[in-house]
Amino acid sequence: PHNKMTPMHSPSSSYTSNTLTNPTIIKKFSPRDFIFLEKLGQGSYSTVYKAKLKRTTKAQQQQMKYYYSDTKLYAIKVCSKKHIIQERKVKYVASEKDTLNMLISIQKHPGIVNLHYTFHDEENLYFVLDYIPGGELFSLIYKYGTFNESMSKHFTCQLVDALDFLHSNKVIHRDLKPENILIGKTGKLLITDFGAAANINDREYATSFVGTSEYVSPELLLYNKCSYPADIWALGCILYQFQQGVPPFRGVNELATFELIVKLKYAYVKPVPVIIKDLISKILVIDSQKRLTISQIKQHKWFEDVNWNDKRKIWKGIWE
Ligand code: ADE
Repeated sequence: PHNKMTPMHSPSSSYTSNTLTNPTIIKKFSPRDFIFLEKLGQGSYSTVYKAKLKRTTKAQQQQMKYYYSDTKLYAIKVCSKKHIIQERKVKYVASEKDTLNMLISIQKHPGIVNLHYTFHDEENLYFVLDYIPGGELFSLIYKYGTFNESMSKHFTCQLVDALDFLHSNKVIHRDLKPENILIGKTGKLLITDFGAAANINDREYATSFVGTSEYVSPELLLYNKCSYPADIWALGCILYQFQQGVPPFRGVNELATFELIVKLKYAYVKPVPVIIKDLISKILVIDSQKRLTISQIKQHKWFEDVNWNDKRKIWKGIWE
């Protein structure tokens, strides 16, 4: 139902009419409507391109029911159908689309990359996402080495708030890492890549290994179990990385990394404020039941000065 020229967060009633009964909805988007610019990223079965809509005539614009801008930049994730099938990722792309549509239908959250349209052709599936100009958080950590306390806190608050939104809507991201977190124009963080995400209502959510080895939770490795605390574990790893420049568990290979994780073997190389160490030690807990929850994290004393209800402050840009 989302293939019309209709933003996905519009009420579903507007999808129901077709060209025969309602001439105002004319066409769906296709790749030909966009100018593809440079490549932004590459995954195993997808490539992300910067893109913009081709200019349209006044007449064409009048045919389009919803406002859009042809100067706005988008990031289009192109997934090759052949590769998706070969790599058995059909379930994941479907889940990415459904999860993002579901979230957007609830609320456009400042910490989640917005999905505008999806369409497909013979070869590919296309996700038209907001273009986020600041690149990956990964690159920023790489550039800075480490973040100071206030920058770490600013970013952690945003991630906590975004995770709170996901988890209260029963979504587990399952692959949270600095490569999947983008930086907006004003330094705001946005979570992207919901290809591994699961809706807690899905029965299969716990059955397969997804995620990246360095951020994977011990319960997934030990019991093949993956729920909300897995995202919190990843958050703990990312907070450690803000302070140390590298994730806490990194072995010479994947197996060695897994061993460090399940034995909770990590150490600090650079000095870290005691209060942050305290928070990390309560997040990086093997027993997922004893790990802090989002609401407990919000109450940690490091966040004493944070008003979690004041979204404007949490999301205020740092280089605005
Ligand atoms: N790389 C991957 N997704 C992106 C997006 N939405 N904006 C900018 N760069 C990206």
